[in-house]
Amino acid sequence: MEKNPLPRLDTKVEELRNHLLPFCRLSIGDTWTDPQGKHHIACGDSSDKNFIKQLFNKNQAVLAVHDPPYNLVMFEKQSVDEFIDWSYKWIENSYDVLSENSALYIWLGADQNDNFQPLPQFMLMMGETEFKSRSFITMRNQRGYGTQKNWMAIRQELLYYTKGNPDYSVQYTDIPKILKGYYKEIDGKMTDNSERGKSPTIRSGNVWVDIQQVFYRMQENVNGCYGQKPLKAIERIIEASSNENDLITDFFSHSGTTVMAAELTNRKCITIDIDPIFAEISIRRIEYFRKTGKTGWQASNPFAKELSKLNKNQLEEIGIIV
Ligand SMILES: C[S@@+](CC[C@H](N)C(=O)[O-])C[C@H]1O[C@@H](n2cnc3c(N)ncnc32)[C@H](O)[C@@H]1O
Repeated sequence: MEKNPLPRLDTKVEELRNHLLPFCRLSIGDTWTDPQGKHHIACGDSSDKNFIKQLFNKNQAVLAVHDPPYNLVMFEKQSVDEFIDWSYKWIENSYDVLSENSALYIWLGADQNDNFQPLPQFMLMMGETEFKSRSFITMRNQRGYGTQKNWMAIRQELLYYTKGNPDYSVQYTDIPKILKGYYKEIDGKMTDNSERGKSPTIRSGNVWVDIQQVFYRMQENVNGCYGQKPLKAIERIIEASSNENDLITDFFSHSGTTVMAAELTNRKCITIDIDPIFAEISIRRIEYFRKTGKTGWQASNPFAKELSKLNKNQLEEIGIIV
């Protein structure tokens, strides 16, 4: 099993899903409470007001990092209006659980073959809320999709909003400052920009070109997950917009990247996924890290132990090519 990665678990792999579901601890409405008292991982619908209210109780987060399905063909596509109506609900829920001074980040896609939906509609919808727009970040992926007749699609959009007036800590990349020439006289001496800066590396602005997209050779890789974000990106957001021991949240957990990044940066996290399999993977990611120090399964997968009990024929029957 070690060398047999799982296929995408959200697609038409019903036999495999049916095999894995009995090993998942949570059903809709359930929550896993971390024995170390740091995180909560819940299975449920983020757009459901009552569910969110109960889950958070009176707790408030200083930061939300959400990565919803993008309404592109590879996910379950709805009409744009339906997507926006649905998004409005989980945005309202986010507002309710965020503290007076807090930050909200949303990863979103734009379908270049369909008038870039749902990004513009989503941005307009956000204009109707109490959140204040702060930045429009683009992260560059290394691999993309496209044809010889169009620019390869390698961008990941990330919207940054605030509620109230939260702190923001400047983040630096690992990229050395190589451009000089912004001269300025200080105390009678002519200095260039590299002498005046606070860091020898460049600041992370709103275009991120220094983050490796997750792929199968990386330790943090979680097989079966199609939409995994790099830990480095989430850690950058967390460091910019929260402090140690703060509570953060993610309404679309999937491979559990945000809860994993919270663990690494000493924050607490409440995260949710509507799919019991992804909720279970998120729980296992934290458990596996605490046991082994590893942030993902690289060439193996979160259900390797259960699947190792099956023979070649049984594996093939549930859609795993051995
Ligand atoms: C794009 S993925 C998130 C990827 C995540 N950032 C990561 O790094 O692994 C979106 C996730 O949202 C979940 N989801 C979809 N609708 C949901 C809803 N209404 N409530 C909670 N989770 C939902 C899906 O099951 C999927 O796992």
